[in-house]
Amino acid sequence: MTEHVRVENNNGILTLTLARPDKKNALTDAMYRKLADTIEAAESDPSVRVLLIRGEGDMFTAGNDVGEFAAVASGKSEGSRNVGRFIQSLARCTRPLVAAVQGRAVGVGTTMLLHCDLVVLAENTQLSTPFVSLALVPEAASSLLMPARIGYARAYEMFALGETVPAKSALEWGLANRVVPLERLDTEALALAQRLAKQPAGALIATKKLMRDGEALVAQMNAEGEQFAKRLRTAEAREAFTAFAERRPPDFTKVS
Ligand code: COA
Repeated sequence: MTEHVRVENNNGILTLTLARPDKKNALTDAMYRKLADTIEAAESDPSVRVLLIRGEGDMFTAGNDVGEFAAVASGKSEGSRNVGRFIQSLARCTRPLVAAVQGRAVGVGTTMLLHCDLVVLAENTQLSTPFVSLALVPEAASSLLMPARIGYARAYEMFALGETVPAKSALEWGLANRVVPLERLDTEALALAQRLAKQPAGALIATKKLMRDGEALVAQMNAEGEQFAKRLRTAEAREAFTAFAERRPPDFTKVS
């Protein structure tokens, strides 16, 4: 089977590349497993000083694989445990996390950025969290982190209306550190990762621990996860995923 997540460790920088470009890097259970395994293992690997997440192709990621959501919604699958492992590994990651993002970052593609310590966006980036449009609820502790980061008004609009946020606004709102031309994205993100890799690792870890309470984030993820699992099995969700498969807009007025 093709590996859809590539992992390379160079001079203390562990690069995780989402590599399923023909499906816009939509994340499958197998991809979440590989990401979670890698991030968890990095915690006990002293050679890893910084983690860098990036996506191959024209977009960072179109979010969770909608086909896998649809399988749960129709009762054909029990659902993934690895997505939970992945987001928890982000919450608990003590090393600095850097993200390089281009094109669309949908759903978990955006919410994972709230766990990254430095976020570099290409000028063409568009962030979106259309959970409600898919009859779902926010995840990855974003129901806590997003309003804390950008304010309730903007966060609610992103979640409830699925509003897309362009790179310039994302920078102004504090969702990113830098916006750069697309051709400089990888170089800029790598340069920041290299600067972090030269900093004293112990002080970086202690600073991050003071700034973020990983266990509180995991508790929020668990609360969201309960709602998410329930919503995924509703008629609303079945309509959302059927509409995606049929390439038509959903009609929620006919489902209760
Ligand atoms: N899950 C599964 N497959 C996906 C996907 C996803 N989240 N996003 C894109 N794909 C697939 C498409 O089905 C298509 O496959 P095909 O070539 O076999 O038909 C391929 O990737 C290319 O996608 P396409 O929609 O043609 O690209 P686009 O550039 O026109 O649009 C998006 C890109 C991201 C705007 C659009 O694909 C989209 O809205 N995806 C769903 C995003 C989403 O709702 N994610 C869940 C968030 S919680």
